[in-house]
Amino acid sequence: MSKEVVLSGIRPTGFLHLGNYFGAMRNYVRMQDEYNCYFFVANWHSLTTHPDTKELQTSVHRVIAENVACGLDPEKVALYVQSDIPEIAELYLYLNMLAYKGELEKTTTFKDKARLQPDNINAGLLTYPVLMASDILIHRAVKVPVGKDQEQHLEMARNFAERFNFRYGNVFPTPQAFNFGSELVKIMSLDGNGKMSKSENQMATLYLADDDDSIRKKIMKAKTDSGPTETNSVKPDYIENIFTLMKLVSTAGVYEKFNEDFNKCGIRYGDMKKQLAEDMVAFIKPIREKAADIQSNKDLLAKIIHQGKEKARASAAATLNEVRKAIGVNY
Ligand code: TRP
Repeated sequence: MSKEVVLSGIRPTGFLHLGNYFGAMRNYVRMQDEYNCYFFVANWHSLTTHPDTKELQTSVHRVIAENVACGLDPEKVALYVQSDIPEIAELYLYLNMLAYKGELEKTTTFKDKARLQPDNINAGLLTYPVLMASDILIHRAVKVPVGKDQEQHLEMARNFAERFNFRYGNVFPTPQAFNFGSELVKIMSLDGNGKMSKSENQMATLYLADDDDSIRKKIMKAKTDSGPTETNSVKPDYIENIFTLMKLVSTAGVYEKFNEDFNKCGIRYGDMKKQLAEDMVAFIKPIREKAADIQSNKDLLAKIIHQGKEKARASAAATLNEVRKAIGVNY
């Protein structure tokens, strides 16, 4: 039996952080044996906000390097750059004929972006969900690991796929969002304000590129309080977050010790943070060093990107062939 096709895209903006690692990348790594995986850097999508393209180029390289450093194996998955696959752009053209202005204008992310950049409400921004649908449908993917904020886009991708199938004949399966259920780990910002974020409060976000001292500093500054006053009390969410991090990077014994201290009202957050800082350094350091090695090795990077492109283009070309036949633009 052939493996199910899984696909996800990563926007090359900002540095990858622990939230990205435990919320997404670690799960990609776990899926790579069981599924036929396509993971790509969505650099065309980034152009909708008119970024500095020199920086964009560096970010694309860094994202590729960081994903490989986190354990994605370019031999097992197709790890590629969106702009290397012209077939996506052709499918985007066909799907644009099936996407209506009204529904595109109603999309939440479009409305948000239009508010953020009122002087640059370009057609690419409006058709962002069509491009995303093309990313997914070009490999006829059925499982798409994405966060909650992307579910509306996924629903639109399903609509476009169904419209295509209805009008031209059955080419696409309908893709579903995939969120790992109970295994999904959410990492909060160290200041206790919402999720770890690529852009907001960098002192409260642990990046995979942070050096040892920054990691220590950030963890020592993490929000705590004077400790519980009743035994076995419920942890405030910013304390729960420190325990979550400890569970992810420290040994079970260390976690248990501090958890017991908490339950007995004998916890010393300073000691806990010192321990967590050392365990976090031990966790991030090898990833950071491996990513830096890959990023500075231009030949290796080029080889990885080329390998991904070859795999992705073979699959994309096969789909596009079916698409052209279905529409009747195969002369
Ligand atoms: N829009 C996604 C995000 O902002 C990135 C993305 C682009 C994507 N194309 C995709 C995700 C296809 C999943 C599938 O995070």
